[in-house]
Amino acid sequence: MINPVVVQHMRSKLEGKHFLKLADFTKAELMDLIRYTIQLKNMQKMGEPHPLLKGKTLAMIFEKSSTRTRVSFETGMYQLGGQALFLNKNDLQIGNGETIADTAKVLSRYVDGIMIRTYEHAIVEELAVNASIPIINGLTDDFHPCQVLADLVTIYEKKESFDDLKLAFVGDGNNMAQSLLMGCAIMGIDCTIASPDNSQVKQEIFSQVLEKAAVSGAKVEQTNDPVEAVANADIIYTDVWASMGWNGDLEERKKGFMKYQVNDALVTGAKDDYVFLHCLPAHREEEVASSIIDGDHSVVFDQAENRLHAQKAILASLL
Ligand code: CP
Ligand code: NVA
Repeated sequence: MINPVVVQHMRSKLEGKHFLKLADFTKAELMDLIRYTIQLKNMQKMGEPHPLLKGKTLAMIFEKSSTRTRVSFETGMYQLGGQALFLNKNDLQIGNGETIADTAKVLSRYVDGIMIRTYEHAIVEELAVNASIPIINGLTDDFHPCQVLADLVTIYEKKESFDDLKLAFVGDGNNMAQSLLMGCAIMGIDCTIASPDNSQVKQEIFSQVLEKAAVSGAKVEQTNDPVEAVANADIIYTDVWASMGWNGDLEERKKGFMKYQVNDALVTGAKDDYVFLHCLPAHREEEVASSIIDGDHSVVFDQAENRLHAQKAILASLL
């Protein structure tokens, strides 16, 4: 049964807020979202209806492709009793030059929330400033907060707490890395990122991560050495070496990244019970060996499933 106390608690805290980046949330708010996710997940598994968003509509604007984000948001809205509209940029007037601000004002008259996947993070911020409804970031060049909420839920399920954990992110210092470091820093998970010199996380974002870590007590480190990063890790995480929108020489890039591949040799330094996470889609034999992503330590499909439950918690809280 839907617990009205939990629903009221979440709504009183987050109703009307946007979900643009994790830095906008406290540890307590994220912990509430994690617990709410687990409650909604249990209800879904038990077949208990939970139409918390009956009659509500979510607009979903996609400027980049997606499997998980699109399907989990659409299914999530359906399970919550509402509906979702898939809006490809090319089918909207944004594609013909209508401004983000005008789009925000118009959609605010029709729907109850907007999820957007786009390029510059500034676009999401501009949408939020001009909308009178909640905006959810479904991935920008800088952040992927919905993914990291699902990642935190997965870590919590597998490790039963966030205490005394070390996460190693190995690879490109991209949107995933930046969001993940932020999520870990807020929750108090120690983390080390190993990436090549020319692919580090943005300095300005790393400074914000360090500020959050100072509050939670998490130890956050940057290195070029994947072996050092993975030493004693409880969680190993990687992502593609070239994110959507990147258009350099891929073969050249792969050569510089080969030593960052998560493979059987690299993981020998991790704890015996480490878990392997990847936001997916994965490029097997590039950033991760098939033996790892298909191996016993991999939890990538539980993690992908948790996108659905975590986003339902976000939607039910914000809308
Ligand atoms: N992890 C993730 O966001 O996947 P999609 O690109 O398929 O949405
Ligand atoms: N870093 C990847 C994540 C995809 C979910 C990208 O931006 O393409």
